Amino acid sequence: MAENSKDLLHVEGGKPLVGSIQVRGAKNFVSKAMVAALLAPDTSVLKNVPQIRDVHVVSDLLRLHGVNVDVDEAAGIVTIDAKKVQLADVADVDTLSGSSRIPILFSGPLLHRLGEAFIPALGGCNIGGRPIDFHLETLRKLGAKVDKEHADGIHITAPDGLHGAKIHLPYPSVGATEQTLLAAVQAEGKTELSGAATEPEIMDLVAVLQKMGAIISVDVDRTFRIEGVKELKGYRHTSLTDRIEAASWASAALATQGDIFVKGATQPEMMTFLNVFRKIGGQFDITDEGIRFWHPGNELKPVAIETDVHPGFMTDWQQPLVVALTQANGLSIVHETVYEQRFGFTRPLVDMGATIQLYKECLGSLPCRFQQRNYKHSAVIFGPTPLTGREIDVPDLRGGFSHLIAALAASGPSDVNGISLIDRGYEDFRGKLVALGADID
Ligand code: EPZ
Repeated sequence: MAENSKDLLHVEGGKPLVGSIQVRGAKNFVSKAMVAALLAPDTSVLKNVPQIRDVHVVSDLLRLHGVNVDVDEAAGIVTIDAKKVQLADVADVDTLSGSSRIPILFSGPLLHRLGEAFIPALGGCNIGGRPIDFHLETLRKLGAKVDKEHADGIHITAPDGLHGAKIHLPYPSVGATEQTLLAAVQAEGKTELSGAATEPEIMDLVAVLQKMGAIISVDVDRTFRIEGVKELKGYRHTSLTDRIEAASWASAALATQGDIFVKGATQPEMMTFLNVFRKIGGQFDITDEGIRFWHPGNELKPVAIETDVHPGFMTDWQQPLVVALTQANGLSIVHETVYEQRFGFTRPLVDMGATIQLYKECLGSLPCRFQQRNYKHSAVIFGPTPLTGREIDVPDLRGGFSHLIAALAASGPSDVNGISLIDRGYEDFRGKLVALGADID
């Protein structure tokens, strides 16, 4: 059983999710925009911020560095006054180690403000090794010295400040792209970053940096060019919607034969997902206020999916969608090319009755980095298979939401343990489930 009842959710499955919910700002943008505020000795205001754990972690880390952060959770407005910044006490920073991947992005801003930074050991979902070699390589090329890496953190200094550099990413890493942008905007001279990622969340971060006074361009070949500037000022910005949460609820509508209006969902960031959703047989209707996703009642069709960087099919979309694919009529294939171990969540689905087999081979049109290595990064899902409720332990954020969807789609009761992990990235998901008619407590 879960350590405490707060961490356990009892679900009576088999009821379609029907109704309307609101999705607010993107988890993988708002946290980075909050870090960007650190660059300017000024006040910044961020709107459409969801009430999720990642926001609290970044707020606490900013406060440890002497920054004033005011969070109006109901209004979704975060006000950051970064006029004063100080080095945080290592012991305090350690308390946040292991809780998120965001702290590494404090490096650039702290090096500009203070000439040094202590970064706690990172956390984040165990969906792969999650190395930060690209991040450290970028900081070194920009002139920083990574003094030492030890169990609970990294000490970085840049006594002579940062200078522009020519940087190429071996893989279009989202985090390493953000690392470079946050560090290069005030580096002396020009920085060229090739092989970058250009996710919508990254382009929203570029918009924030431009509002602050930065000079950043991106070429057709995904090369960013940054011209360092002396001064940056605070920004006012409204976050784009969380397209991962929106797609998660769309997958829940398919898996439970439901009908969900996701207020705030926007089409441009979800085009690839919408194409796949339609090929499976889901219906959607796009309005100015959001997107309605529903199961039309006839059988779902199997699909072959290959995850990739933007504008490809997003890796964070596949886990919730796999649950819907267990109800499709035939064989579906998912080739996960971004993370080497992102199918661990399928084990409990098989125990609930799904037929899913994992393979080391690249079951897709492109051989990826995990070819010929020992990672089971391709999945074949056979359906339709009825799911039966059971006790489930949540493995990671998106896998956890997939287990929730499976419990809701299954017949009979399920006890989902460790659900507070889902609070990291899904604002008020319990309230939303109730609004959609789920039978939970
Ligand atoms: C961000 O993680 C997101 N997290 C992830 O969402 C998302 O899945 C991922 O980007 C890809 O879109 C946040 O933004 C907080 P990466 P990030 O660097 O930046 C390798 C969620 O559920 N790599 O693009 O950590 C890495 O091992 C989370 O919201 C290196 O080898 O992802 C992986 O194979 C899950 N060295 C690949 O790049 C490095 O230094 C992509 O990782 C960095 C990355």
